[in-house]
Amino acid sequence: MSLKIEQVHKYFVGEVSGIDLSDPLSKSEVIQIEEGMDQFGVLIFREQFLSDEEQVSYTKNFGELELHVGSNVLKGNERRLSLEFADVSNLDQDGEILKKGDRRRMFNLGNRLWHTDSSFRNIPSKFSILSCRSSPKNGGNTEFSFMPAVYDELDEGTKQEIADLITEHSLIYSRGQLGFSDFNEEEKQMFKPVQHVMVRINEFTKRKSIYLSSHIGKILGWEIPEGRDFIRELMEFATQRHFVYAHEWKPGDLVMWDNRQCMHRVRPFKDTGEKRDMRRTTVAGTAPTLVSAT
Ligand code: OGA
Ligand code: MN
Repeated sequence: MSLKIEQVHKYFVGEVSGIDLSDPLSKSEVIQIEEGMDQFGVLIFREQFLSDEEQVSYTKNFGELELHVGSNVLKGNERRLSLEFADVSNLDQDGEILKKGDRRRMFNLGNRLWHTDSSFRNIPSKFSILSCRSSPKNGGNTEFSFMPAVYDELDEGTKQEIADLITEHSLIYSRGQLGFSDFNEEEKQMFKPVQHVMVRINEFTKRKSIYLSSHIGKILGWEIPEGRDFIRELMEFATQRHFVYAHEWKPGDLVMWDNRQCMHRVRPFKDTGEKRDMRRTTVAGTAPTLVSAT
């Protein structure tokens, strides 16, 4: 078997064939996938029925695992999966569907806003690896938008305006957009805002991209409403349909994306009626985006 990547969207997204991710990878396969991520931003693998252990081993090929602490309102006994996983399902610790008013469900609804994973951390994540164990009949697609293509299409004035901007990101800002604001003191501490640059460069392709996320609540040095209005404009621009790929999930699909170059969101589905079991592992980033934050 030899690994092949075929581009499936005008700007990005590669579909990968010729590899079984439950087997250990060769060095050259790891390099091909890393380069594929740089070039395509999102890679799709089909019919990969991995165990949790196999998913964790696969993830470690690309760097350190990001542990899922400080990213949710789960209490210790409410976890269905180990700390190596972000549980982006609609299930509780016993595998039952979360009830309509459950606080965990309310918090998770934030994934329906366009975002990049862990941009609320000082060192944001590199890759996310999402495995579909079961999916609803309708809805629940995950959509992706490719930020280097978005950056290229910005007008010159906007490129100049954003060149040196620094933004503040927090889970409190993204959840606040949905009216979720009852954070306790411990959560407020845990979700304290962090700062990031707005323009990032991919070291391999040398392409610039715009680093956006619904976690942004402030542009440094700007009045809050003015900053939020500008971010809203940029988000609208960045998520025009021609930039977007929508993934329709089947059990066994594994999709990995580069959080340094993509935004994503999950689309609605009947989440109080059907199980959607999705398990994410995350490759940690290696440095803050702001040099002054090192
Ligand atoms: C994620 C996420 C989207 C989904 O895993 O980071 O936002 O489709 N999930 O569940
Ligand atoms: Mn996400």
